[in-house]
Amino acid sequence: MNNKKQETILFVDDEEELLKLADEYFQSKGFKLFTAKNGADAVEILKHEKIDCCFTDLAMPGMNGLELAEYIRQLDNSIPVIVVTGYPSLDSVINTLKNGVVDFLVKPVKFSMLEACLERVLRERQLLIDNIFLKKELEGKLRLRKLNHELTNKVKKLNTLNMIMSNISSIGADSDIFKCVTDLATEITNADESIFYVINDDIKQLFQVALSFGSDRSSDGETVGVVLDDVAELLMEIINDKIPFLVAKNKNVRRLPKKILSFMAVPLKIREKTFGILALYVTTGNIRFDKKDLFYMSFLTMHAASSIENAALYDNIFDNLFSTLYALVQAIEARDPYTRQHSDRVAQISVAIAVGMGCSKEDIDIINFAGRLHDIGKIGVMDKVLLKPGKLTNEEFDMIKKHPVIGANIIGQLGMWDKEQEIIKYHHERFDGTGYPEGLKGDKIPFLARILSVADAFDAMDSDRAYRKRMETEKIMAIINEAAGTQFDPDVVKTFQKIYKDGKILVN
Ligand SMILES: [Fe+2]
Repeated sequence: MNNKKQETILFVDDEEELLKLADEYFQSKGFKLFTAKNGADAVEILKHEKIDCCFTDLAMPGMNGLELAEYIRQLDNSIPVIVVTGYPSLDSVINTLKNGVVDFLVKPVKFSMLEACLERVLRERQLLIDNIFLKKELEGKLRLRKLNHELTNKVKKLNTLNMIMSNISSIGADSDIFKCVTDLATEITNADESIFYVINDDIKQLFQVALSFGSDRSSDGETVGVVLDDVAELLMEIINDKIPFLVAKNKNVRRLPKKILSFMAVPLKIREKTFGILALYVTTGNIRFDKKDLFYMSFLTMHAASSIENAALYDNIFDNLFSTLYALVQAIEARDPYTRQHSDRVAQISVAIAVGMGCSKEDIDIINFAGRLHDIGKIGVMDKVLLKPGKLTNEEFDMIKKHPVIGANIIGQLGMWDKEQEIIKYHHERFDGTGYPEGLKGDKIPFLARILSVADAFDAMDSDRAYRKRMETEKIMAIINEAAGTQFDPDVVKTFQKIYKDGKILVN
């Protein structure tokens, strides 16, 4: 006996004789059979039994076959209903089919025909059920996969954000926040290079302060990486727009060199002022940045910005920025063989004078800092003027005269070095008011600037220049003495002469 024949049939007809014959026939074929004399009885059976197929007459007392078919359709539309009737009209055929009846047999029927019909509808029903089940399973699987995917992404996102937060907030006072930012950026986005630049608004120039290479790239050996000059213009535009910028695939984007395959940059703002910019580059391989990366990088720079604002990091930034700026001064001096080490010596001499004049420890630190950076503004003066060997024209000298103000603006960026800024700004003022940039006179010139002015002049005369050899020390001391009250503060000159005699000024 095959499995299919264990299925349950409901046979509904008001001819009891027919019910009896059907019962015998289908039982003998191995089916389980329920019979009902009318629709109402059939409904009772349907309430309690699991029926796989229903044969029904149309014309019956009480609930007729059509109403029963409708009832079954609403109860479970997978149960096939086959109508067996004596006098079918076209209308009744159409109506039964509308009510979900799957077949229509005309009496008198042979039971073998009923059986064949039954086999067919049960087979179709099984297919339908399998199909629905498969579809549901598939939908379930797809939905599960989607949920899983969403969940994984959410977890990933949370992990990344968490990593950014914990890394940024755990930066110690002795570590470099900019390097930490570029390291994290490289790790999260798989960039080949991440670079952080700080911006100087006054001279519209970027300075690279931190660089990290992706794991596939080595930081040693020759740098084949991105050169600031190639991207500076684009970065400046992004800084002006103050909006994160993404080029997922570089298809000849203006001002973006071809070797950069994918690029993004996020300005770092502190209190609405753009302080720097984080730029990421892909120059090899298949990694391409997307919106998600841009989101992470925006999050990263935002948190880095608030950390930078955090007072606990001020000292750290102070050191970082000082090193960066100092490196710039050294770069400027390195281009001119005559001014090499000038700033260091000016700082040493200034400190010696300041000590001789009884300055506080704080002032001595300030003048030491200012001395080493006092000519940083020369970065804003063109090389052809700065390095010109002969005499300068008035116009060229006017350009040189801008360096104290440019330097003061560079130092003044963060508002951390007010006194240092003043010294740098006024180190070319003269005691009689004929100096620059403002022509300040006497006491109006900050005291430490008056000290630096003497040290600066001494070292200039004590060094070779393109147009003259270094002067004899006695001659220099005479010139400085002569200029007491005109170029220099007489009190400072007095102290300078004294400490020189005491051997505290080292000459070249
Ligand atoms: Fe200067």
